[in-house]
Amino acid sequence: MNLYQRIRDHSRAEHLPDGTTVYLRPLRDSDLEHANEFFAALSERTRYLRFMAPMPQLTKETLGDLIRAMYESRSAVVVATFEHADRREELIGGGRIVPAGRRGTCEFALTIVDRWQGRGVGGVLMREVIRRARLLGYRRIEGYVLNVNAGMLAVAQHARMNLRVDPDDPGVITVYRALYPFVRG
Ligand SMILES: CC(C)(COP(=O)(O)OP(=O)(O)OC[C@H]1O[C@@H](n2cnc3c(N)ncnc32)[C@H](O)[C@@H]1OP(=O)(O)O)[C@@H](O)C(=O)NCCC(=O)NCCS
Repeated sequence: MNLYQRIRDHSRAEHLPDGTTVYLRPLRDSDLEHANEFFAALSERTRYLRFMAPMPQLTKETLGDLIRAMYESRSAVVVATFEHADRREELIGGGRIVPAGRRGTCEFALTIVDRWQGRGVGGVLMREVIRRARLLGYRRIEGYVLNVNAGMLAVAQHARMNLRVDPDDPGVITVYRALYPFVRG
């Protein structure tokens, strides 16, 4: 993908604390061809934290969720880098928003590939997901996080989310915040 295509796809550049530039853009049809590859590269731990259950392969249901999110006003976003010597694009993370089944509320999920975790990509992606949720008109965003997932809980707290232990399952924490249309995220 060249600079022209990047602009056409509304890609936005962000800088990580170590100075690396990453690009945020909507998920595209062509990315789905690489969905299995992206998933296969994730460690067992990352998959477990993301899906809160062992997930040996990408299921039709998860892929279906992603496709729906993509067509629902581009509510799926990826983070890419061009750090390779040949300047090819590498997808290093993805986030998606789906309606939560309650009026005005959406549910988010994030995944960063293992070798990029802990470098600030999750924080950048979280802010983008919140920005998009607000643009889509949601008034509340929430996510479900295992209580052992210190990384996601830290990202949520940085994004000024509240934390609530699920009364039916103390192992799961709901992270949530209100989205006011004109308040900066
Ligand atoms: C959770 C996840 C999205 C976080 O993204 P990330 O890129 O690793 O996180 P960042 O580097 O942006 O970290 C943001 C903050 O969290 C802290 N953090 C990150 N990982 C941490 C960990 N394992 N323990 C404690 N704090 C952690 C960082 O120190 C940073 O805080 P700081 O700015 O005060 O230094 C990513 O690790 C991931 O994909 N994990 C597996 C899948 C998953 O858990 N998805 C979430 C389900 S909703």
